[in-house]
Amino acid sequence: MAKKERWASRLGLVLAMAGNAVGLGNFLRFPAQAAANGGGAFLIPYLVALLVMGVPLIWVEWAMGRYGGQFGHHSTPGIFDSIGRRPYWKYIGVFGLWSNLIIAAFYLYIESWTLAYAGYSLLGGFETTSAGAFFDRITGNFPNSIWAFSVPGLVMFALCIIINIFILSRGLAAGIELVSKIGMPLLIVFAIIIAIRGLLIVPGVEPITDQARAAAGFGIIDPQAVASPFEGLRFLWEPKFDSLANPAVWLAAAGQIFFTLSIGMGSIHCYASYLREQDDIALTGSTAAWTNEFCEVILGGSILLPIAVAYLGLSQVQEMTAGGSGFGIGFMTFPTLFQKWGVLAPVAGFLWFGLLFFAAITSSLAMGQPIMSFFQTEFGLSRSKSALAFGAMLLPFAAPVAFLAQGSFFDEFDYWAGTFALVVLATAEAVLFAWIFGMDRAWAEIGKGAEMRVPRPFYYIIKYVTPTFLILILVAYTFQPA
Ligand code: PHE
Repeated sequence: MAKKERWASRLGLVLAMAGNAVGLGNFLRFPAQAAANGGGAFLIPYLVALLVMGVPLIWVEWAMGRYGGQFGHHSTPGIFDSIGRRPYWKYIGVFGLWSNLIIAAFYLYIESWTLAYAGYSLLGGFETTSAGAFFDRITGNFPNSIWAFSVPGLVMFALCIIINIFILSRGLAAGIELVSKIGMPLLIVFAIIIAIRGLLIVPGVEPITDQARAAAGFGIIDPQAVASPFEGLRFLWEPKFDSLANPAVWLAAAGQIFFTLSIGMGSIHCYASYLREQDDIALTGSTAAWTNEFCEVILGGSILLPIAVAYLGLSQVQEMTAGGSGFGIGFMTFPTLFQKWGVLAPVAGFLWFGLLFFAAITSSLAMGQPIMSFFQTEFGLSRSKSALAFGAMLLPFAAPVAFLAQGSFFDEFDYWAGTFALVVLATAEAVLFAWIFGMDRAWAEIGKGAEMRVPRPFYYIIKYVTPTFLILILVAYTFQPA
C-alpha cells in the first residue's frame, strides 16, 4: 500500500478545503439563485440552512473523515464502513463516489470553458468575436443538430481533464495543496479587482453600444435601461419577504448551501481523512466554511449582478437570471462588456475567467481525489495509476456531456446530481454519525484536538435538528422537482 500521505501545512489544508468549497457555485450560481428567490430575503433561509445543516455537517464530515483516516480509509465507502460496522454502510458510501464522478464530468466541462475563455481573452479575441459566438464555437452549440460538440471544445475538455489528472498524480501536498496555495489568493485578488472596477462603472458614461449589445446576443435595448451598478446590488439585496412563503425558495437555499460547501459528496470526508488524530477540526473546519461564505456572499454578490445591471438594465438581467443560473451572463455577456473597461479592457476577461478557472479547478480536484483515494486504498494501486483510473472512470460520463450537453441538460443535471444526490448522502451520514455511531462518541470526535469550543447547542442540533431538516428536504425534493 502507498505510504501515508498528509497535508503539509495547516494553511495549505485550509486553502485546499476552501478551494474545495469555493467554486463556480459561488460566482455564477449564488447571485442568480438569490436574485431569483427573494433577493435579500433569500439570505434568511440561506442562513438558516447554513446554521442547521451547513456548519453542523461540516463538522460531521470532517470528524468522520479524520476518524476513518485513522484506519487507513480515505474515501466514503471505507470511512462509512469504519463507523457503521455493518456491511451495508460501505455500499451506501459508494453513493458518494458516484455523485463525485458524475458531477466531475459536467463540472470539468465548464471548467474547460473557463480555460478557453481566459486564453482567448488574453489573446484579445473578444475585441472582434462576440462572446456568444465564441460560446457556440466552444460548446458546439449549432442550430438544428442533436450533436453539441466542436473540435476546439473537445480539445479544451481533454486538456482540462489531463491537467487535473496530472495534478492529482503528484500527490496531496505537491498537487492539490500547492495549486490551492497559488490559486486561492489569486482568485481573491482577481475577484476584488473585478468587483471594484465593476462598482465604479458610471452609468451612461461608458455606454455599451447597441452594436455590442447585439453582438452579445441581446438585440437592441432601451438606452434608458442603463443603471448604476448599485442598482444591481439593490436587485440582489433588496428583500422581497413574500418569497419566504414559497417552499421552493427554502429548498433552493438548502440546495445552494449543500452545493457551495461541497457537503454530501464525500469530498470533505476524503480531504479530512489525511489529518492526524489530534489535528483540530472545530476551528479549521469553520475557517474553511467561513472563507467560502466570504467568497460567496461578499465577492460573488458584488460581481455578476452589479456589472450586468449597469450595462444591460434591470429588466434584462431579471429575465436572464430568472432560472437561477448566472451562466448566460458570465460566459455570454461579460467578455463583450469588458471591452469597455479602458486600461483594464485587455486583461479584464483574463481576470474574470482566470478567477473562475481557479475556483473550478480547486473544486474539480476535490471531486477527483476521493475516487483516486478509493483506488489507492481499497485496491492498493499506485498514485499515478489511481489518478489514471479516475480519468478512465470519467470517460463514459464525460463523453455524453461533451457530445450532447445543451441548455436544459445542465438544469436537470444540476437538480438531480448537484442537489438531490447531496441531500441523500448527507441524510445517511447524519443518521450514521449521530445515531448509529452515537451522539456522545460523535461529539467527542468533533471535540478531539479542538482549538475552539464547539457551542453546546450544536450537540442537539446535530442529533435532532439536522436530521429532521434533512429528511423534510428529502421528502420535499422527491415530490416537488424543480
Ligand atoms: N462547492 C463547489 C462549488 O461551489 C462545488 C463542489 C461540490 C465541489 C462538491 C466539490 C464537491 O462550485
